[in-house]
Amino acid sequence: MKKIAVVGTGYVGLVTGVALSEVGHEVTCIDIDEAKVARMQRGESPIYEPGLDDVMKRNIDAGRLHFTTNHNEGFTGKEVIYIAVGTPEREDGTADLQYVDQVAVDIASHVKQDVVVVTKSTVPVGTNDYILRTIKEHLTNGVAVSIVSNPEFLREGNAVYDAFNGDRIVVGADDKWAGDMIEEINKPFNIPVYRTDVRSAEMIKYASNAFLATKISFINEIANICEKLGANIEDVSAGMGMDGRIGHQFLRAGIGYGGSCFPKDTKALTQIASYVDHNFELLNSVIRVNNYQHHILPEKAKKVMDTLKGKRVALLGLAFKPNTDDMRESPAITMSEELLLAGAEVVGYDPIAMDNARKTMPEGVSYVGSVEEALTGADAAFLVTDWDEFKALDLSVFREKMAQPLVFDGRNCYGLDQAAEAGLDYYSIGRAPVVKGKVEVGM
Ligand code: UDX
Repeated sequence: MKKIAVVGTGYVGLVTGVALSEVGHEVTCIDIDEAKVARMQRGESPIYEPGLDDVMKRNIDAGRLHFTTNHNEGFTGKEVIYIAVGTPEREDGTADLQYVDQVAVDIASHVKQDVVVVTKSTVPVGTNDYILRTIKEHLTNGVAVSIVSNPEFLREGNAVYDAFNGDRIVVGADDKWAGDMIEEINKPFNIPVYRTDVRSAEMIKYASNAFLATKISFINEIANICEKLGANIEDVSAGMGMDGRIGHQFLRAGIGYGGSCFPKDTKALTQIASYVDHNFELLNSVIRVNNYQHHILPEKAKKVMDTLKGKRVALLGLAFKPNTDDMRESPAITMSEELLLAGAEVVGYDPIAMDNARKTMPEGVSYVGSVEEALTGADAAFLVTDWDEFKALDLSVFREKMAQPLVFDGRNCYGLDQAAEAGLDYYSIGRAPVVKGKVEVGM
């Protein structure tokens, strides 16, 4: 078992550190935020992630998981240092590497023994070579340093499960000894390890996210066409997915992807391509399609309702997807901007993301504590996030609470017959509308 430091306790760093300690390694997580470190030392996760608190507490109690703000203490005696600091998106779509740079300099000034540096943060192809050069330039002693790209594929909301059940662990190393060490560290996870060089590993991360985003934009385009032709996207997607070459996953049509990864990584990859004079046309279209899809429900509402001016509209779900409180790039933001602009009174409810929503949603949105309150007196309801709570609703609530039972569903939470039986006017994605309890063909 190894002595490991993890720098950065954001989403990726914290889950990585906790998972490595759970399989028996001794892990110290380093962060500059004192309040956050104090919280984590008490076994409290600063992010909402099902199951994470329990695993954290277990490993803190077992003496395998530590948190500190002190780099010297964090790096001392460590054979492996994971870099998991943020790489936020700059205005032009490129990744901002200032935090990664800082860590490289910190490592160089603190390490006193040979060390493998592992990059978990998603960084443009070539960055690991740059980090290694930076560390070597600032080293004050003659220790050996090597770098490994070990990209992260965790999904928010499923991160603990994914950490122990992922499809693959990618280990990109140009020095065999460093790659061997990271492969060894990951053995207890019993997940297939894929060995490659540093640059290919960096590209695997971007290409994987870009490909998944492409699947989503593709199915959303098919949905928009289905709707006009009277076909049903749910059936189309199920029938396509039965082809093993296509697969069922990431073929759920909706109001577009959001979150901290897909929007940022797709834009970054188009930038990376442009540096080598390649116009990544397909990915540019994927991004455009996704931006359009965020507007699709307000657009529908404008067609169906005479006016949105003065109308009370309920947004059910604000997080970018269920089981997370993450609001980053959530379609709820774009939608509420557009609805407010059209003069609507916007009321939001989310089972978990209310605190973050208050910080990120446009001014003018008001918030309530339950579905029922959100629907009371509403002229239209928008399903933005497919939380189980909404999927399990007795649909009579829409008729009972709303001024009129008009529902725009961005996640196809209900069957058309179910919506018809409940007497809703129901507009979803890639399917026929339900008007006055009757399924209509075409829109
Ligand atoms: C994603 C990747 O899955 C993960 O491997 C990577 O490390 C980080 O980015 P995450 O952002 O947590 O993870 O969310 P994910 O569950 O992949 O969903 C991303 C977005 O796509 C969400 O907005 C979701 O609503 C949307 N989505 C997903 C669809 O619209 N349709 C689908 O079929 C699947």
